[in-house]
Amino acid sequence: MRSLARTVHLKQIDRGHQSQSFLRQRTIPKLDNVYKRIAKKTILIQHTMAEVRDAKDNDLKGIAACILSSGLFTADEIGAVPEMFKHRDSKQIWLVAECDNTIVGVSYAGSLELTDRSWNLWMLGVHEEYQRMGIGSRLVNHVEERLKSERQRMLIIDTTQKEDQAGARALYSKLGYDQVARIPDFYEDGTEKLTFIKRLS
Ligand SMILES: CC(C)(COP(=O)(O)OP(=O)(O)OC[C@H]1O[C@@H](n2cnc3c(N)ncnc32)[C@H](O)[C@@H]1OP(=O)(O)O)[C@@H](O)C(=O)NCCC(=O)NCCS
Repeated sequence: MRSLARTVHLKQIDRGHQSQSFLRQRTIPKLDNVYKRIAKKTILIQHTMAEVRDAKDNDLKGIAACILSSGLFTADEIGAVPEMFKHRDSKQIWLVAECDNTIVGVSYAGSLELTDRSWNLWMLGVHEEYQRMGIGSRLVNHVEERLKSERQRMLIIDTTQKEDQAGARALYSKLGYDQVARIPDFYEDGTEKLTFIKRLS
């Protein structure tokens, strides 16, 4: 009798454990999702607090780190950027997005010589941990607003058909750019140049 009671008791404990572990299995993933949502929301809030401003001389290190993190250039390809940045002039717009003293986005546009107020967006990169939070859009919007205020006429953006540029192509289309040209084998055999434009005035 005693041992039957003990068995029943043990079974109850076991059921208790099972239901606890069942609860844990159901609750922990739910909590995980909640934490993930909170983390994403926190970053989203941070991004809205990210300041977009003109780049300053002492931003170079942060700009290089951001470009590398974005995947725009590799360490081998980034070599020309410091010289370009050091020699920037009034016919160029270098912007950064800064969040918590870290540069999380970079854009660089330049006016095109021998054209009537046409500009090219030569560089756009967002730190990999901050992508898809609207920072790239904000940088392009800022460039456009600056150019509009200076009565410039057109912004041109070149990219490629490669898979790793799918996000950039989607971004330009979403921001109202029209793809107007495609040059096969432009960058190298097999790599097309796709040209997007937007009239500003
Ligand atoms: C391309 C890049 C600058 C976009 O910056 P971002 O801050 O991530 O872009 P946003 O958050 O402003 O995206 C705005 C919209 O563009 C589209 N988009 C951006 N990245 C995308 C991606 N990876 N896949 C699909 N659509 C994408 C979406 O429509 C997105 O809106 P949604 O998030 O509401 O769907 C960034 O991903 C990057 O630095 N990539 C590597 C470097 C690069 O390719 N630079 C462009 C060279 S031409």
